[in-house]
Amino acid sequence: MAGPLLVIGSVNYDLIFRHARLPQAGETISGTELFESCGGKGANQAVAAVRCRGHLGNAAPPVLFGGAVGNDAHAAAQRRVFEEDELDTRYLLVLDDCHTGLSAVWVEAATGDNRIMNSPGANSRLTADALAAAPIEEAGLLLIQNETPADGVRSAIERAHGANVPVIWNPAPIDAGSDPGIDPGQIAWVTPNEVECAVLLGRPGERIDAASSADAASELLDLGYRGAALTLGPAGVMLAQPGSAPTLVPAPKVDAIDTTGAGDAFNGAFAAALLGSADSRKAALFGVRYASDSVTRRGTQTSFARW
Ligand code: RIB
Repeated sequence: MAGPLLVIGSVNYDLIFRHARLPQAGETISGTELFESCGGKGANQAVAAVRCRGHLGNAAPPVLFGGAVGNDAHAAAQRRVFEEDELDTRYLLVLDDCHTGLSAVWVEAATGDNRIMNSPGANSRLTADALAAAPIEEAGLLLIQNETPADGVRSAIERAHGANVPVIWNPAPIDAGSDPGIDPGQIAWVTPNEVECAVLLGRPGERIDAASSADAASELLDLGYRGAALTLGPAGVMLAQPGSAPTLVPAPKVDAIDTTGAGDAFNGAFAAALLGSADSRKAALFGVRYASDSVTRRGTQTSFARW
């Protein structure tokens, strides 16, 4: 594959509250630990892709990021991170009339599990028109999520497909009630977690776990996706491609303290590795290792190591 890795997606500033337990409806918990990190699924994946390149040697691809931020302190913090990581942000829109996306993340200390609420701000302006100048047709690989407007996501995927640029679509977040209208045949790799996979399969709320993941990944192929990497948290990733049986790429055992952004770490590292190699299992293993390492540290981009 020639051309850079192009990551398109959201930028958020994350306020991460960590406590022994999460609040019930109507309950206030005070005394939680607060951690702040630049975040957003798009920015996280771009930062992960760029930070793991040292491990990929000559195969390391250049990484470009396209997104939208406000003209505020949170955007300035993210721009500093992008600059330190030498990420190409020519296609980052800075908008004067809205705020940078903001996320409230709740982390349960015992498990590291998280729950997120997000106010999109500038992310909601990353439409198909706003992406007109993004060099999608020149990319070697497009990595995109579902945290920006559906018309922009759809059009970026269609443009990539039309130019024979492979697409990794991370369908996060996904709402059971609104169909993003993606044509599975245009997706080289779909990378849902268990919850998102159940929605894609039309069975929201169904519990998909390691035991049922091979069948679920095969069902994604039946829908027309050309490859599926179903992320299973500490169990690893179930990888499926037409013509061979799904295989589990196991995760190393680690002490997880904060799982926020682990899926993004996987997607970024998987994409970076895939661009330099045709071996998808090796790329998934690389992504799983990078993501497993990230859960041993706090925050989102703050937890991504420079490999
Ligand atoms: O995947 C983790 C990310 O989801 C966080 O950074 C948060 O901002 C939300 O976008």
